[in-house]
Amino acid sequence: MIRSTEIRGKFSVFFKGRGHAVVPSSSLVPSDPSVLLTTAGMQQFKPYYTGEADPVRDFGAKSVASCQKSFRTSDIDEVGDERHLTFFEMLGNFSFGGYGKREAILYAYDFITAEMGLRISYVTVFEGSSSVPRDEESAGIWKELRSDIDVRYEGMDDVFWGPTGSSGPCGPTTEIYVKNGAGEDIEVWNIVFNQFFYPGSREELLAGTPGKELKPLAQFGVDTGMGLERLAMVTQKTRTVFETDLFAPLIAALPGELPNRVQRVIADHARGSAFLLADGVRPSNKGAGYVLRRLMRRVFAYIYLHALPIGVFEKLVTAVIADYGAEYPELGTHREAILSAMRSEREQFGKTMERGMKAIAAMDAIDAKAAFDLYQSMGMTYEIVKEVGGLKARGLSRADFDREFAKHQEASRAGAEKKFGGHGLILDTGELKAGNEEELAKVTRLHTATHLLQQALKDVLGAEVSQRGSDITVERTRFDFSFPRKVLPEELKRAEDIVNAKVGEDLPMTFVEMPIEEAKKTGALYYFKEKYPERVKVYYAGTSLKSAYSREFCGGPHVTHTGVVGKFKIMKEEAVSAGIRRIRATVE
Ligand code: ALA
Repeated sequence: MIRSTEIRGKFSVFFKGRGHAVVPSSSLVPSDPSVLLTTAGMQQFKPYYTGEADPVRDFGAKSVASCQKSFRTSDIDEVGDERHLTFFEMLGNFSFGGYGKREAILYAYDFITAEMGLRISYVTVFEGSSSVPRDEESAGIWKELRSDIDVRYEGMDDVFWGPTGSSGPCGPTTEIYVKNGAGEDIEVWNIVFNQFFYPGSREELLAGTPGKELKPLAQFGVDTGMGLERLAMVTQKTRTVFETDLFAPLIAALPGELPNRVQRVIADHARGSAFLLADGVRPSNKGAGYVLRRLMRRVFAYIYLHALPIGVFEKLVTAVIADYGAEYPELGTHREAILSAMRSEREQFGKTMERGMKAIAAMDAIDAKAAFDLYQSMGMTYEIVKEVGGLKARGLSRADFDREFAKHQEASRAGAEKKFGGHGLILDTGELKAGNEEELAKVTRLHTATHLLQQALKDVLGAEVSQRGSDITVERTRFDFSFPRKVLPEELKRAEDIVNAKVGEDLPMTFVEMPIEEAKKTGALYYFKEKYPERVKVYYAGTSLKSAYSREFCGGPHVTHTGVVGKFKIMKEEAVSAGIRRIRATVE
């Protein structure tokens, strides 16, 4: 059996022998502030693709290879199946103007077949899109290597990588699939050709955001990523990543009668926690700290629910330090700090966990608001509520929970600001005011209605309509805008009807966050008098930013679906001053 330590070794020797400098893994906490955690090997090399940094000066070569600590929160709900993980190690080779598609594919082919002795089941290649041609070149190279190879064409969602963060290099990919011990085809290696730079996030790229285009990069870049755990699974011929030597000792430390899924989640989360702690993350309610808190609390919850010995978590973390310490010395260096942070989180959560479990048991149905209350009052994280709540929480989605969370953060930020001013309101953004939860819900509905109204007024009266002020209380929204004459009753009626139609369509209301200059290019409305920060949220009503009915710079809060706004009614229209009109409106 090829052990995972040998796999790491073979990988660096292979690429060193082919002119690559072997670079150590960067921290899980990236230096790029637009990214929460390191999700891929290429992240620490972003400036080398764009030409901002010189790889020859820094590494002595145009090509490098690494084994990178990576963490993907996007996979957190999948953990427990055969192969999804939060923390994982990514083997990768990278080239910044050094070599092209042919070498990249050839290296990967040789490493998989000759070094690892594996047979490739099939490969995928980019099928092309309106802006990027089909990757015939890669398909041709694969066919030259093995004429009978199965080449499958896939699209933007699957085989187009990046960008990570708020902008960056990106491009088409080709992926290698190999069978695991269960005979299933597993994607093991993703080979990215960084041909472009995109001035926005991946989400914006997939949505086709107006004003944002792919720009060719001056130099051709190669960025590859191969999960070590998956490679170990196919090499060691196991059915799951948890049976490889990377996980087997951790799983063995858990009672055998524990359900498989629970064993896997505990092993994954213990490993992820140890590595996050080693890189200096501490449990908290935001950012990376919040991710860590969720991992740790889920383990504590399982220990409680399955009556496991309390020391199990510590035992696993100690095993992680022992198993991975040689490869990642930071684990050993911070051993005491890791264990003590773990104990203090256990103590803190231990004070409320049992009460939280009982509260869940006593509830009939758990929606996002109830789930958030459980988090706020008893520290019960989304994952615990979802799992322990079972059928009662089937209507609870992560997106709704996150929105509830964000709403609370907005409210407490605004509340704190106002408390400072001595108001005692729970929400006062300057525009919105609410004294309690019920009022908060009402002004939130009025706020979304106000966005819809602004767009409706533009539709009816013309594009010159622009916001001059807005003030929302629990009774009404008051919206001031530029317009040279009185608005006719039939025009008001049309605007009102449009808003109600949009409410009737129950459009999702969400936001994307981006640098202000980019946000302006999306065509979103903004209020010229307002001082916006460097990064702004663009709230939009619709299924994508591009196709949205309304787009506006805004700090929120908003409803999650326009349907909950209720029936919208314009009460009054009047002049405020020359060229400025005022509308007062309510929702039922
Ligand atoms: N950056 C690419 C990935 O992470 C290789 O899949």
